[in-house]
Amino acid sequence: MKQKKGSLLSWHTEWIMSRFPFQLTTEADYDAAYRFSTESPEAFWEDVASHYQWRKPWHTTLEWNFQEPDVKWFLGAELNITENCIDRHLSDKAEQTAIIWEPNESHEAAKHISYRELHDEVCRMANVLTDLGVTKGDRVCIYMPMIPELAYAVLACARMGAIHSVVFAGFSANSVADRINDSSCKVVITTDAMSRGAKQIAVKAIVDEALTQCTSVERVLVVNRMNWEVPMAEGRDVDYRKEHAHAATIFEPVAMQSEDPLFILYTSGSTGKPKGVLHTCGGYMVYAGYTFSNVFQYKTGEIHWCTADIGWVTGHSYILYGPLLNGATTLMFEGIPTYPDAGRFWEVVDKHRVNIFYTAPTAIRSLMSAGIEHVLPYTLQTLRALGSVGEPINEEAWHWYDTNIGKNRCAIVDTFWQTETGGIMLTSCAGVTNSKPALAGLPLPGVQPILVDSNGNEIEGNDAEGHLCFKFPWPSILRSTWGDHERCRQTYFATYPNLYFTGDGARRDEDGLYRIIGRVDDVINVSGHRFGTAEIENAINQNKHVIESAVVGFPHDIKGQGIYAYVILAKGSEANQDMRDRIIETVAHEIGRIAKPDKIQFVSGLPKTRSGKIMRRILRKVAEGDVSSLGDTTTLLDPTIVEEIVKGAN
Ligand code: WTA
Repeated sequence: MKQKKGSLLSWHTEWIMSRFPFQLTTEADYDAAYRFSTESPEAFWEDVASHYQWRKPWHTTLEWNFQEPDVKWFLGAELNITENCIDRHLSDKAEQTAIIWEPNESHEAAKHISYRELHDEVCRMANVLTDLGVTKGDRVCIYMPMIPELAYAVLACARMGAIHSVVFAGFSANSVADRINDSSCKVVITTDAMSRGAKQIAVKAIVDEALTQCTSVERVLVVNRMNWEVPMAEGRDVDYRKEHAHAATIFEPVAMQSEDPLFILYTSGSTGKPKGVLHTCGGYMVYAGYTFSNVFQYKTGEIHWCTADIGWVTGHSYILYGPLLNGATTLMFEGIPTYPDAGRFWEVVDKHRVNIFYTAPTAIRSLMSAGIEHVLPYTLQTLRALGSVGEPINEEAWHWYDTNIGKNRCAIVDTFWQTETGGIMLTSCAGVTNSKPALAGLPLPGVQPILVDSNGNEIEGNDAEGHLCFKFPWPSILRSTWGDHERCRQTYFATYPNLYFTGDGARRDEDGLYRIIGRVDDVINVSGHRFGTAEIENAINQNKHVIESAVVGFPHDIKGQGIYAYVILAKGSEANQDMRDRIIETVAHEIGRIAKPDKIQFVSGLPKTRSGKIMRRILRKVAEGDVSSLGDTTTLLDPTIVEEIVKGAN
């Protein structure tokens, strides 16, 4: 890359004559950009990156190998992502709404937060965190409901160069503790309590319980949400209300190296405890902003609503960073789809005149099953594009979404991506590229998918099925897993040499569009949330009545996949409903309610091979209710156990 002397602004605007517009609005633009992005990926991403504001240009666009792995984008460049998300818009959009906040209770007033207010609140939070001793590189755990202060907290960390680790506020104290300890967080930001639908949750008490297992946390910043009186530990806990009152509304963004960490986000894999996926500043920024603009074809003034929680990657990239990088108005919803009734989403769409609506198939299926009478009272006339994410969408749900929500006039994008990819990888671009019901679609420019067989040989041509990998890095590919780079290598880069392996199976159709089939490893996707079967087994095994367990997924009408647990109880423990409830409580305690088994079958043994390996294939078949073709069971240590399991299946 050529470096230009002179002011940074002139470098930014003059340095490169963009070959392509930032937003590709025609199929021809997409085709040309895609071709160029595979022929000259570095030049392509330089072009995209030139649309952002950098403090200092990069001297090397990309260095990479997938063996170690070691991927670095925009080396030598300096930036602060919040300058691009906030400050950059203050010249022309200071009074425009950045965030619309819709509370859990429909009778409570919504908030409209302008870019100016967002700037001031993020700076306030950054100043308070500075007073608490947080500096560049420190890890900050954020465990909060979906309130504006959550957005301020995330962006404040990014502005000061602290590494945020947002933990979804549905995880248990044990899970919070594991995540805090894994990355030695110095500060936790939380609230007194929260409400989710009709439930109230004592958030601060969960943090207090977690912190009995943690030594790294020095301070806890407590934001008030529910006016609860909560115990405050002297010298550790700080009431944000008091600090906020005198915090300054200016905070100079810290200049970050492109490859400095931006955030850690924990996600489950097939083995062990959840791992901290690491994303870095420059590449993540470039990719989140670019994909948001192109996939949803965002136009100035539109209202974008992604219904995810910021505790998941979808919330990071498409509630906060992606939209704000584009100067968009993004809606943040505190509640759930079914409270006070199953019309809540549609009420919010009409109320705030939402143009882009992005949700998960599980929500669509659950609202579909609630009945059309919850949709009919609303016009939904402002909607232009609909999105789906997190799990494969079945055709029935796709058509229901298209007909009843999109009124057959909205573009639908089914976006495939992962915590590890940082942003959307395979999808159609709303109204621009080819889209088919229940197919994710084409790769975005800069994305090079490849299907391989189980030996790692490429399956070429269309009409093919295999394991989905990517063969070239994109700017927001994960850089590592926190504290354990070898685990990153093993999990994603060791299965197939020189490829990033997603863990998913996929089909490429006759037009080159991808359909995601689902995980091919021991990860199950429950309502769009990822869990490792081993992670749930470990939780179940914590129950003192349990000797051993094996967990598999099974098809579930609403959740996509449900959790089916086979459990061996200790002698003398009674196999009854009460025991099932106790095991569910154990899982809720160890991980959180979101991971509780849907079905528990008590068994006297598990189908193991002579080498002690559980034959999960058999357990999956039984859980699916398909016992006609259990395959060869003669290699089992005790083939009679299969008969027992089949008889006892529920
Ligand atoms: C699955 C969520 C089918 C997939 C952004 C992937 C999908 C995992 C889709 C990542 C989709 C995500 N169609 N399956 N459109 N999107 N998945 O890390 O199995 O929570 O590997 O990221 O969800 O889940 P994660």
